[in-house]
Amino acid sequence: MSHSKKLVFIVGSLRRGSFNRALADYAAEVVGERAEVEYLEYADLPLMNEDIEFPAPAAVTRVREQVESADGVWIFSPEYNFSYPAGLKNALDWLSRPQVPGDFDAAVSLTDMPVAISGAGGKAANANVRRQLVELLEYVEASIVGGEGEGFVLPASAWQTGVYEIPEWDKTRIALQAEDLLAALS
Ligand SMILES: Cc1cc2nc3c(=O)[nH]c(=O)nc-3n(C[C@H](O)[C@H](O)[C@H](O)COP(=O)(O)O)c2cc1C
Repeated sequence: MSHSKKLVFIVGSLRRGSFNRALADYAAEVVGERAEVEYLEYADLPLMNEDIEFPAPAAVTRVREQVESADGVWIFSPEYNFSYPAGLKNALDWLSRPQVPGDFDAAVSLTDMPVAISGAGGKAANANVRRQLVELLEYVEASIVGGEGEGFVLPASAWQTGVYEIPEWDKTRIALQAEDLLAALS
């Protein structure tokens, strides 16, 4: 079946056994046939450095094209020390820049893009990184769906076993977020 809509998922954790990746995988299941889901591949982006912005490095062009081809974006991020994981911030910084030198009126990749936010982590349910993501996304004029989104407290078993068994109520919250994001796709 060909999908008419495409979502790009950005997982803020790069580790193989990421709980946020597991949450994203569950969200992809819930989205099902309603949209194509692609994960943003951003681990190979160079660190943001204005000396290398133009011409854009190949990895930057690839990441921009992936995001710009999407109808919506869903970020699943851990919180690192009350803030963003550096890799996620780096990717968002690249996505926030105009593609023509000095053209600061040009739309950037995330402008007007519907973006939803989720995060699984410790007891504060990633409230800080989710709030900071809203600030950044408002700054780049993304179209945020559901405000600070949904935070998920990891069950003790996840820390003990490395396997994230998502509680039923949290599965429902992901499903509701999926409904909201899908409804917001233009
Ligand atoms: C550098 C670093 C800082 C962290 N800081 C926080 C934090 O501020 N709040 C929190 O809930 N967990 C924090 N954690 C723990 C993460 O929630 C935990 O490692 C989680 O499993 C990361 O998400 P992932 O499973 O998707 O990789 C931190 C982990 C790292 C590596």
